[in-house]
Amino acid sequence: MTSNRLLPWTPPYVAYFTLRLARITLKRLQSRWANVSKASILVTGGAGYIGSNTVQLLSLQGYDVTVVDNLSRGYRHNVDPDRLHEIDLAETQTLADLLKKRAIDAVIHFAAYIAVGESMKVPEAYFSNNVVGSLSLLTAMLLAGVKKIVFSSTAAVYGMPLQIPIKESAPYAPVSPYGESKVMVEKMLGWFDQIHALRSVSLRYFNASGADPAGHIGEEHEPETHLIPLIFRAIETGIPVTIFGTDYETADGTCIRDYIHVNDLAQAHILAVESLFAGGASGAYNVGTGVGYSVLEVIRAAEQITGKKIPFDIRPRREGDPPTLVADPTLLRSTFGWTSHYDLRDIVSTAWNFELKRKLARV
Ligand SMILES: NC(=O)c1ccc[n+]([C@@H]2O[C@H](COP(=O)([O-])OP(=O)(O)OC[C@H]3O[C@@H](n4cnc5c(N)ncnc54)[C@H](O)[C@@H]3O)[C@@H](O)[C@H]2O)c1
Repeated sequence: MTSNRLLPWTPPYVAYFTLRLARITLKRLQSRWANVSKASILVTGGAGYIGSNTVQLLSLQGYDVTVVDNLSRGYRHNVDPDRLHEIDLAETQTLADLLKKRAIDAVIHFAAYIAVGESMKVPEAYFSNNVVGSLSLLTAMLLAGVKKIVFSSTAAVYGMPLQIPIKESAPYAPVSPYGESKVMVEKMLGWFDQIHALRSVSLRYFNASGADPAGHIGEEHEPETHLIPLIFRAIETGIPVTIFGTDYETADGTCIRDYIHVNDLAQAHILAVESLFAGGASGAYNVGTGVGYSVLEVIRAAEQITGKKIPFDIRPRREGDPPTLVADPTLLRSTFGWTSHYDLRDIVSTAWNFELKRKLARV
Protein backbone atom coordinates (compact mmCIF):
# COMPACT_ATOMS: atom_id res chain seq x y z
CA MET A 1 0.00 0.00 0.00
CA THR A 2 1.13 3.49 -0.72
CA SER A 3 1.75 5.47 2.41
CA ASN A 4 1.87 9.18 2.97
CA ARG A 5 4.69 8.76 5.49
CA LEU A 6 8.06 8.35 3.90
CA LEU A 7 10.54 6.22 5.79
CA PRO A 8 14.13 7.35 5.97
CA TRP A 9 16.20 6.05 3.09
CA THR A 10 18.45 3.08 3.79
CA PRO A 11 20.96 1.48 1.40
CA PRO A 12 21.71 -0.94 -0.22
CA TYR A 13 18.75 -0.15 -2.44
CA VAL A 14 19.92 -1.89 -5.60
CA ALA A 15 19.90 -5.35 -3.98
CA TYR A 16 16.60 -4.60 -2.25
CA PHE A 17 14.78 -3.53 -5.42
CA THR A 18 16.33 -6.27 -7.56
CA LEU A 19 15.11 -8.86 -5.07
CA ARG A 20 11.66 -7.28 -4.98
CA LEU A 21 11.44 -7.20 -8.78
CA ALA A 22 12.53 -10.84 -8.98
CA ARG A 23 9.88 -11.86 -6.43
CA ILE A 24 7.12 -9.92 -8.15
CA THR A 25 8.09 -11.35 -11.55
CA LEU A 26 8.29 -14.90 -10.19
CA LYS A 27 4.84 -14.60 -8.59
CA ARG A 28 3.39 -13.31 -11.83
CA LEU A 29 5.06 -16.04 -13.85
CA GLN A 30 3.78 -18.75 -11.50
CA SER A 31 0.22 -17.48 -11.57
CA ARG A 32 -0.04 -16.77 -15.27
CA TRP A 33 2.60 -18.49 -17.32
CA ALA A 34 0.83 -21.84 -17.57
CA ASN A 35 -2.00 -20.22 -19.59
CA VAL A 36 0.05 -18.01 -21.87
CA SER A 37 1.72 -19.37 -24.94
CA LYS A 38 4.73 -17.42 -26.12
CA ALA A 39 3.40 -14.68 -28.37
CA SER A 40 5.20 -12.35 -30.72
CA ILE A 41 4.71 -8.68 -29.86
CA LEU A 42 5.73 -5.57 -31.73
CA VAL A 43 6.47 -2.57 -29.51
CA THR A 44 6.51 0.85 -31.19
CA GLY A 45 8.50 3.50 -29.34
CA GLY A 46 10.41 0.71 -27.61
CA ALA A 47 13.58 2.81 -27.37
CA GLY A 48 11.78 5.39 -25.24
CA TYR A 49 11.28 5.54 -21.49
CA ILE A 50 8.11 3.50 -20.93
CA GLY A 51 8.49 1.40 -24.07
CA SER A 52 11.96 0.11 -23.19
CA ASN A 53 10.90 -0.76 -19.64
CA THR A 54 7.96 -2.69 -21.07
CA VAL A 55 10.19 -4.48 -23.58
CA GLN A 56 12.39 -5.58 -20.69
CA LEU A 57 9.43 -6.93 -18.71
CA LEU A 58 7.88 -8.63 -21.75
CA SER A 59 11.17 -10.41 -22.48
CA LEU A 60 11.50 -11.45 -18.83
CA GLN A 61 8.02 -12.96 -19.07
CA GLY A 62 8.92 -14.97 -22.16
CA TYR A 63 7.47 -12.92 -25.00
CA ASP A 64 9.19 -12.63 -28.36
CA VAL A 65 9.61 -8.86 -28.73
CA THR A 66 10.33 -6.76 -31.82
CA VAL A 67 10.92 -3.01 -31.45
CA VAL A 68 10.13 -0.27 -33.94
CA ASP A 69 11.52 3.19 -33.18
CA ASN A 70 12.83 6.04 -35.33
CA LEU A 71 15.06 7.20 -32.44
CA SER A 72 13.72 10.75 -32.76
CA ARG A 73 13.21 10.91 -28.98
CA GLY A 74 14.42 7.52 -27.75
CA TYR A 75 17.86 5.98 -27.29
CA ARG A 76 19.68 3.15 -28.99
CA HIS A 77 21.19 2.17 -25.63
CA ASN A 78 17.70 1.34 -24.29
CA VAL A 79 17.22 -1.58 -26.69
CA ASP A 80 18.96 -4.81 -27.56
CA PRO A 81 20.27 -4.10 -31.11
CA ASP A 82 18.92 -7.45 -32.38
CA ARG A 83 15.37 -6.33 -31.62
CA LEU A 84 15.53 -2.78 -32.93
CA HIS A 85 14.11 -1.80 -36.32
CA GLU A 86 14.70 1.87 -37.12
CA ILE A 87 11.42 2.57 -38.87
CA ASP A 88 9.14 5.60 -38.74
CA LEU A 89 5.43 5.12 -38.04
CA ALA A 90 4.73 6.80 -41.38
CA GLU A 91 6.32 3.89 -43.31
CA THR A 92 3.12 1.89 -43.66
CA GLN A 93 4.31 -0.79 -46.09
CA THR A 94 7.61 -1.36 -44.26
CA LEU A 95 5.66 -1.81 -41.04
CA ALA A 96 3.24 -4.24 -42.71
CA ASP A 97 6.16 -6.28 -44.11
CA LEU A 98 7.79 -6.43 -40.66
CA LEU A 99 4.52 -7.45 -38.97
CA LYS A 100 4.22 -10.34 -41.44
CA LYS A 101 7.88 -11.33 -41.38
CA ARG A 102 8.00 -11.47 -37.58
CA ALA A 103 4.55 -13.18 -37.40
CA ILE A 104 3.41 -10.54 -34.92
CA ASP A 105 0.37 -11.43 -32.79
CA ALA A 106 -0.20 -8.03 -31.18
CA VAL A 107 1.16 -4.49 -31.08
CA ILE A 108 1.88 -2.29 -28.07
CA HIS A 109 1.97 1.27 -29.38
CA PHE A 110 4.02 3.80 -27.40
CA ALA A 111 5.58 5.82 -30.24
CA ALA A 112 4.46 9.44 -30.05
CA TYR A 113 5.57 12.95 -29.15
CA ILE A 114 4.71 13.55 -25.52
CA ALA A 115 5.27 17.16 -24.43
CA VAL A 116 2.10 19.17 -23.73
CA GLY A 117 3.94 22.52 -23.90
CA GLU A 118 5.59 21.70 -27.22
CA SER A 119 2.22 20.66 -28.63
CA MET A 120 0.90 24.16 -27.84
CA LYS A 121 3.65 25.59 -30.06
CA VAL A 122 3.72 23.08 -32.93
CA PRO A 123 0.33 21.31 -32.96
CA GLU A 124 0.94 20.20 -36.56
CA ALA A 125 3.84 18.00 -35.41
CA TYR A 126 1.59 16.35 -32.81
CA PHE A 127 -1.34 15.68 -35.14
CA SER A 128 1.03 14.43 -37.83
CA ASN A 129 3.19 12.17 -35.66
CA ASN A 130 0.64 10.99 -33.11
CA VAL A 131 -2.52 10.80 -35.20
CA VAL A 132 -1.35 10.27 -38.80
CA GLY A 133 1.47 8.05 -37.50
CA SER A 134 -1.02 5.89 -35.56
CA LEU A 135 -3.30 5.69 -38.60
CA SER A 136 -0.35 4.46 -40.66
CA LEU A 137 0.36 1.80 -38.04
CA LEU A 138 -3.29 0.68 -37.95
CA THR A 139 -3.32 0.48 -41.75
CA ALA A 140 -0.17 -1.66 -41.66
CA MET A 141 -1.81 -3.92 -39.09
CA LEU A 142 -4.81 -4.42 -41.36
CA LEU A 143 -2.51 -5.19 -44.30
CA ALA A 144 -0.72 -7.79 -42.17
CA GLY A 145 -3.89 -9.17 -40.54
CA VAL A 146 -2.82 -8.19 -36.98
CA LYS A 147 -5.96 -7.38 -34.98
CA LYS A 148 -4.81 -6.60 -31.44
CA ILE A 149 -3.28 -3.40 -30.08
CA VAL A 150 -2.58 -1.81 -26.70
CA PHE A 151 -2.38 1.97 -27.03
CA SER A 152 -0.57 4.51 -24.82
CA SER A 153 -3.18 7.08 -23.97
CA THR A 154 -3.08 9.65 -21.20
CA ALA A 155 -4.93 11.40 -18.39
CA ALA A 156 -4.63 14.48 -20.64
CA VAL A 157 -7.74 13.23 -22.49
CA TYR A 158 -9.77 14.44 -19.46
CA GLY A 159 -8.39 18.00 -19.46
CA MET A 160 -9.63 19.76 -16.32
CA PRO A 161 -11.80 17.01 -14.77
CA LEU A 162 -14.74 17.97 -12.58
CA GLN A 163 -14.59 14.90 -10.36
CA ILE A 164 -11.61 13.42 -8.50
CA PRO A 165 -10.68 10.57 -8.55
CA ILE A 166 -11.25 10.41 -12.29
CA LYS A 167 -13.28 7.55 -13.71
CA GLU A 168 -13.07 6.39 -17.32
CA SER A 169 -16.64 7.61 -17.80
CA ALA A 170 -15.49 11.24 -17.42
CA PRO A 171 -15.94 13.09 -20.71
CA TYR A 172 -13.16 13.81 -23.20
CA ALA A 173 -12.10 17.42 -22.62
CA PRO A 174 -8.45 17.82 -23.68
CA VAL A 175 -6.89 21.26 -23.30
CA SER A 176 -3.85 20.71 -25.56
CA PRO A 177 -3.12 19.34 -29.04
CA TYR A 178 -1.21 16.53 -27.29
CA GLY A 179 -4.31 15.45 -25.33
CA GLU A 180 -6.48 15.95 -28.42
CA SER A 181 -4.15 13.75 -30.49
CA LYS A 182 -4.68 10.91 -28.01
CA VAL A 183 -8.46 11.41 -28.05
CA MET A 184 -8.39 11.23 -31.84
CA VAL A 185 -6.50 7.94 -31.78
CA GLU A 186 -8.84 6.48 -29.14
CA LYS A 187 -11.77 7.42 -31.40
CA MET A 188 -10.09 5.89 -34.46
CA LEU A 189 -9.58 2.71 -32.47
CA GLY A 190 -13.32 2.67 -31.72
CA TRP A 191 -14.11 2.72 -35.45
CA PHE A 192 -11.46 0.11 -36.29
CA ASP A 193 -13.00 -2.13 -33.63
CA GLN A 194 -16.49 -1.70 -35.07
CA ILE A 195 -15.57 -1.96 -38.76
CA HIS A 196 -12.47 -4.18 -38.84
CA ALA A 197 -12.82 -6.15 -35.56
CA LEU A 198 -9.41 -4.75 -34.57
CA ARG A 199 -9.49 -5.07 -30.77
CA SER A 200 -7.74 -2.45 -28.66
CA VAL A 201 -7.04 -1.50 -25.08
CA SER A 202 -6.26 2.17 -24.48
CA LEU A 203 -4.36 2.75 -21.25
CA ARG A 204 -4.68 6.28 -19.92
CA TYR A 205 -1.56 6.82 -17.86
CA PHE A 206 -1.26 9.30 -15.07
CA ASN A 207 2.30 10.46 -14.16
CA ALA A 208 4.71 7.76 -15.33
CA SER A 209 7.79 7.89 -13.11
CA GLY A 210 10.59 5.92 -11.48
CA ALA A 211 13.15 3.70 -13.16
CA ASP A 212 14.00 0.10 -13.79
CA PRO A 213 15.01 -1.13 -10.30
CA ALA A 214 18.38 -2.34 -11.62
CA GLY A 215 19.05 1.24 -12.72
CA HIS A 216 19.57 0.57 -16.44
CA ILE A 217 16.53 2.36 -17.89
CA GLY A 218 15.00 5.60 -16.65
CA GLU A 219 13.66 8.94 -17.77
CA GLU A 220 15.86 10.75 -20.29
CA HIS A 221 13.40 13.05 -22.03
CA GLU A 222 14.91 16.01 -23.85
CA PRO A 223 13.64 18.56 -23.10
CA GLU A 224 12.63 17.17 -19.72
CA THR A 225 9.29 18.37 -18.39
CA HIS A 226 8.63 15.83 -15.63
CA LEU A 227 9.01 16.75 -11.97
CA ILE A 228 11.26 14.01 -10.55
CA PRO A 229 14.05 14.22 -13.17
CA LEU A 230 13.84 18.02 -12.94
CA ILE A 231 14.37 17.78 -9.17
CA PHE A 232 17.53 15.74 -9.78
CA ARG A 233 18.74 18.33 -12.30
CA ALA A 234 18.25 20.99 -9.63
CA ILE A 235 20.46 18.95 -7.29
CA GLU A 236 23.13 18.60 -9.96
CA THR A 237 23.14 22.16 -11.28
CA GLY A 238 21.98 24.15 -8.27
CA ILE A 239 19.43 25.80 -10.60
CA PRO A 240 16.11 25.76 -8.73
CA VAL A 241 13.25 23.56 -9.89
CA THR A 242 10.17 25.67 -10.57
CA ILE A 243 6.90 25.19 -8.72
CA PHE A 244 4.07 26.63 -10.81
CA GLY A 245 1.50 27.89 -8.34
CA THR A 246 1.23 27.61 -4.56
CA ASP A 247 -2.31 28.98 -4.38
CA TYR A 248 -4.30 25.94 -5.50
CA GLU A 249 -7.08 24.57 -3.32
CA THR A 250 -4.92 21.72 -2.05
CA ALA A 251 -3.48 21.12 1.42
CA ASP A 252 -0.15 22.86 0.72
CA GLY A 253 -1.31 24.94 -2.27
CA THR A 254 0.68 23.01 -4.90
CA CYS A 255 -0.70 20.70 -7.61
CA ILE A 256 -1.43 17.07 -6.80
CA ARG A 257 -0.62 14.26 -9.24
CA ASP A 258 -0.88 10.46 -9.27
CA TYR A 259 2.63 9.01 -9.73
CA ILE A 260 2.73 5.53 -11.21
CA HIS A 261 5.94 3.50 -11.34
CA VAL A 262 7.04 2.60 -14.85
CA ASN A 263 7.18 -1.14 -14.01
CA ASP A 264 3.60 -1.11 -12.69
CA LEU A 265 2.69 0.64 -15.92
CA ALA A 266 4.58 -1.92 -18.00
CA GLN A 267 2.77 -4.74 -16.21
CA ALA A 268 -0.59 -3.14 -17.03
CA HIS A 269 0.34 -3.40 -20.73
CA ILE A 270 1.16 -7.07 -20.40
CA LEU A 271 -2.14 -7.79 -18.65
CA ALA A 272 -3.99 -5.78 -21.30
CA VAL A 273 -2.39 -7.66 -24.18
CA GLU A 274 -3.08 -10.96 -22.46
CA SER A 275 -6.75 -9.98 -22.13
CA LEU A 276 -6.85 -9.41 -25.89
CA PHE A 277 -5.23 -12.82 -26.48
CA ALA A 278 -7.95 -14.31 -24.28
CA GLY A 279 -10.63 -12.77 -26.52
CA GLY A 280 -11.34 -9.72 -24.34
CA ALA A 281 -13.25 -6.75 -25.71
CA SER A 282 -11.87 -3.33 -26.55
CA GLY A 283 -11.85 -0.71 -23.81
CA ALA A 284 -10.11 2.22 -22.13
CA TYR A 285 -8.64 2.09 -18.64
CA ASN A 286 -6.96 4.50 -16.24
CA VAL A 287 -3.51 3.49 -15.03
CA GLY A 288 -2.72 5.23 -11.79
CA THR A 289 -2.43 4.30 -8.12
CA GLY A 290 -5.46 6.24 -6.90
CA VAL A 291 -3.20 8.18 -4.49
CA GLY A 292 -2.04 11.71 -5.15
CA TYR A 293 1.02 13.65 -3.98
CA SER A 294 1.60 17.38 -4.13
CA VAL A 295 4.66 18.92 -5.79
CA LEU A 296 6.00 19.88 -2.35
CA GLU A 297 5.48 16.34 -1.04
CA VAL A 298 7.51 14.96 -3.95
CA ILE A 299 10.27 17.49 -3.27
CA ARG A 300 10.32 16.52 0.42
CA ALA A 301 10.44 12.82 -0.51
CA ALA A 302 13.39 13.50 -2.83
CA GLU A 303 15.17 15.37 -0.02
CA GLN A 304 14.75 12.40 2.31
CA ILE A 305 15.90 9.87 -0.23
CA THR A 306 18.86 11.78 -1.68
CA GLY A 307 19.89 13.46 1.56
CA LYS A 308 20.21 16.72 -0.43
CA LYS A 309 18.45 20.06 -0.13
CA ILE A 310 16.39 20.72 -3.26
CA PRO A 311 16.45 24.34 -4.41
CA PHE A 312 13.10 25.52 -5.78
CA ASP A 313 11.48 28.75 -6.89
CA ILE A 314 7.83 29.66 -7.09
CA ARG A 315 6.12 31.10 -10.16
CA PRO A 316 2.48 31.77 -11.01
CA ARG A 317 0.16 28.95 -12.09
CA ARG A 318 0.48 27.68 -15.67
CA GLU A 319 -2.62 27.90 -17.80
CA GLY A 320 -4.35 24.55 -18.17
CA ASP A 321 -2.78 22.87 -15.10
CA PRO A 322 -5.61 21.23 -13.10
CA PRO A 323 -5.13 21.41 -9.28
CA THR A 324 -5.53 17.65 -8.84
CA LEU A 325 -5.24 14.68 -11.20
CA VAL A 326 -5.78 11.37 -9.48
CA ALA A 327 -6.98 8.18 -11.16
CA ASP A 328 -9.73 5.89 -10.09
CA PRO A 329 -8.00 2.62 -11.08
CA THR A 330 -10.92 0.38 -10.00
CA LEU A 331 -11.76 -0.72 -13.54
CA LEU A 332 -8.19 -1.77 -14.33
CA ARG A 333 -7.98 -3.70 -11.06
CA SER A 334 -11.30 -5.49 -11.44
CA THR A 335 -10.89 -6.29 -15.15
CA PHE A 336 -7.24 -7.33 -15.29
CA GLY A 337 -6.38 -8.08 -11.66
CA TRP A 338 -3.75 -5.33 -11.86
CA THR A 339 -2.29 -3.82 -8.75
CA SER A 340 0.55 -1.36 -8.13
CA HIS A 341 3.62 -2.64 -6.29
CA TYR A 342 5.62 0.57 -5.97
CA ASP A 343 4.84 3.67 -3.88
CA LEU A 344 6.26 7.20 -4.06
CA ARG A 345 9.32 6.27 -2.03
CA ASP A 346 10.11 3.42 -4.44
CA ILE A 347 9.55 5.72 -7.41
CA VAL A 348 11.95 8.39 -6.18
CA SER A 349 14.50 5.80 -4.98
CA THR A 350 14.64 3.91 -8.28
CA ALA A 351 14.80 7.18 -10.24
CA TRP A 352 17.65 8.43 -8.01
CA ASN A 353 19.48 5.12 -8.41
CA PHE A 354 19.21 5.51 -12.19
CA GLU A 355 20.44 9.09 -11.95
CA LEU A 356 23.50 8.07 -9.92
CA LYS A 357 24.35 5.28 -12.37
CA ARG A 358 23.97 7.67 -15.29
CA LYS A 359 26.27 10.17 -13.59
CA LEU A 360 28.86 7.45 -12.97
CA ALA A 361 28.69 6.37 -16.61
CA ARG A 362 29.41 9.96 -17.69
CA VAL A 363 32.56 10.22 -15.54
N1 LIG B 1 5.78 9.73 -19.71
C1 LIG B 1 4.56 9.94 -19.23
O1 LIG B 1 4.37 10.38 -18.08
C2 LIG B 1 3.34 9.62 -20.09
C3 LIG B 1 2.07 9.89 -19.56
C4 LIG B 1 0.95 9.59 -20.33
C5 LIG B 1 1.11 8.99 -21.58
N2 LIG B 1 2.35 8.74 -22.06
C6 LIG B 1 2.47 8.13 -23.40
O2 LIG B 1 3.36 7.02 -23.31
C7 LIG B 1 4.06 6.86 -24.53
C8 LIG B 1 5.54 6.72 -24.25
O3 LIG B 1 5.99 7.84 -23.50
P1 LIG B 1 7.51 7.96 -23.04
O4 LIG B 1 7.53 8.80 -21.82
O5 LIG B 1 8.14 6.63 -23.03
O6 LIG B 1 8.10 8.84 -24.25
P2 LIG B 1 9.51 8.74 -24.99
O7 LIG B 1 9.66 10.00 -25.77
O8 LIG B 1 10.58 8.36 -24.05
O9 LIG B 1 9.28 7.52 -26.00
C9 LIG B 1 8.59 7.65 -27.22
C10 LIG B 1 9.37 6.87 -28.26
O10 LIG B 1 8.66 6.91 -29.51
C11 LIG B 1 9.61 7.13 -30.55
N3 LIG B 1 8.89 7.74 -31.66
C12 LIG B 1 8.24 8.94 -31.66
N4 LIG B 1 7.70 9.16 -32.86
C13 LIG B 1 7.99 8.09 -33.65
C14 LIG B 1 7.69 7.74 -34.99
N5 LIG B 1 7.00 8.56 -35.80
N6 LIG B 1 8.15 6.55 -35.47
C15 LIG B 1 8.84 5.71 -34.65
N7 LIG B 1 9.16 6.00 -33.39
C16 LIG B 1 8.74 7.18 -32.87
C17 LIG B 1 10.67 8.01 -29.94
O11 LIG B 1 11.91 7.95 -30.62
C18 LIG B 1 10.76 7.45 -28.53
O12 LIG B 1 11.71 6.41 -28.44
C19 LIG B 1 3.70 8.05 -25.40
O13 LIG B 1 2.71 7.65 -26.33
C20 LIG B 1 3.12 9.05 -24.41
O14 LIG B 1 2.16 9.89 -25.01
C21 LIG B 1 3.47 9.05 -21.34
